[in-house]
Amino acid sequence: MAIRPILTVPDPILKQVSKPVDKVDDQLRALMDDMLETMYDAPGIGLAAVQIGEPVRVIVMDLAREGEDPQPRYFVNPEILETVEDTQPYEEGCLSVPEIYETVERPERVRLRYLDYDGKAVEEWAEGLYATCIQHEMDHLEGVLFIDYLSRLKRTRAVDKVKKARRRSSETV
Ligand code: NI
Repeated sequence: MAIRPILTVPDPILKQVSKPVDKVDDQLRALMDDMLETMYDAPGIGLAAVQIGEPVRVIVMDLAREGEDPQPRYFVNPEILETVEDTQPYEEGCLSVPEIYETVERPERVRLRYLDYDGKAVEEWAEGLYATCIQHEMDHLEGVLFIDYLSRLKRTRAVDKVKKARRRSSETV
């Protein structure tokens, strides 16, 4: 396993549409292991492969609270089959848009289909934080970031802030 660098805005790779995975094999599991380790190190609760520069339809997630045992989840080729009309607001952040938090409204329940770490097909409803997080991560697979839901002004400010922070950190190295 290895910790990989996380791409941040405005890296154009983040705008790419990720490609479907052909099969869940050891090579893909190695990528998922790297993603999980990178996410835990960041730390974050979800990560899409494109965020480490691999535009394939793979997501990792862990929604365990502090003090709970880790609950890693892996999603290969995830699809949303159904959503409810009711939405819920959540103050979202993103490892590719560090230090920026803004409220986004998303459907509060979604029915999902995906392949797990072993390549087994799973179908289930996600709700609450799980629903918010999987929709945020699946947006990454389409090249969409949570800041794309904000006004143009707020989005521009967010990207500028990340760019400035990056410049500062590269000056100190
Ligand atoms: Ni994100």
